[in-house]
Amino acid sequence: MKRDFLTLADRTEAEYRALFDRAHALKASRKRKEVVTTLAGRHLVLVFEKASTRTHLSFEAAMYQLGGTVTTITAGTSQIGRGETIEDTARVISSYADCIMFRTFGDERLNALAKASSVPVINGLSEGGHPVQVLTDLFTVEERLGSVKGKTVAFVGDCASNMGRSFVEATLFFGFDLRLGCPEGYRPAASLLAEAGSRVHVTADASEAVKGADVVVTDVWTSMGQEAESAKRKKDLHEYQVNEALMAKAKPGAIVLHCLPAHRGEEITDGVIDGAQSAVWDEAENRMHVQKALLEQLILG
Ligand code: CP
Ligand code: NVA
Repeated sequence: MKRDFLTLADRTEAEYRALFDRAHALKASRKRKEVVTTLAGRHLVLVFEKASTRTHLSFEAAMYQLGGTVTTITAGTSQIGRGETIEDTARVISSYADCIMFRTFGDERLNALAKASSVPVINGLSEGGHPVQVLTDLFTVEERLGSVKGKTVAFVGDCASNMGRSFVEATLFFGFDLRLGCPEGYRPAASLLAEAGSRVHVTADASEAVKGADVVVTDVWTSMGQEAESAKRKKDLHEYQVNEALMAKAKPGAIVLHCLPAHRGEEITDGVIDGAQSAVWDEAENRMHVQKALLEQLILG
């Protein structure tokens, strides 16, 4: 029975521990220039209905470096853009590939592709979440700060974004406290917050969210597909910028994460993203190492 990775609820705590251990080992191997070919003969198909730099490149690099092969298609360059159903597309890709990664808009489309596919499907970003990114963020926290357990993570800005939602889900598996700093209207759904329970605290005061935090995270104010709302979002969120003054409220050794791409000067300043507390470049690199471990778990079982 194939298992997908559509949300962070699709793996257990024990599987995440094994995945992080393997990702640390694969990263160390890569640094030593060792060749690892655990996925030789296996094929990955990447399907993009939205733009991407990191997800596209890090999945391709991960699969090729493990000895596998990859094909990438987009809606515009495939029959998806001409109306072929996602279910028919999934059935056909399943006959060529050992795993599918899908980046799309609504979660109905992601779930429909997963249901019709006979091979594991990875969510490469949807409206409902960005689980591979948040997994990588927590791996980066472990690498920088020794452990995720017991840490306080502040997520500031658009907390209703796919990143905000996946961070809320992650509290159920990784034992950290999450403080969301956002105005009314930019909170994750009440049902998701209720599910997460006392580990998640929501405040409209960005300083309160960041006070004493070990990790400060933000994301763009206007996600892909929300471009028409950009002016309103800038106005609503301007007090939630991660800047030097806000960072001064966090723990002295706190790190800053941003999944990228950043809109410098909006949700984050140049001084913070380029500063000593920024872990964003490690975070981007770690996408590849974490996804290697994930691909091994999903394809090899
Ligand atoms: N962080 C992230 O997913 O980046 P891309 O949109 O470039 O893939
Ligand atoms: N929330 C952002 C993340 C980009 C990686 C978006 O969906 O555009």
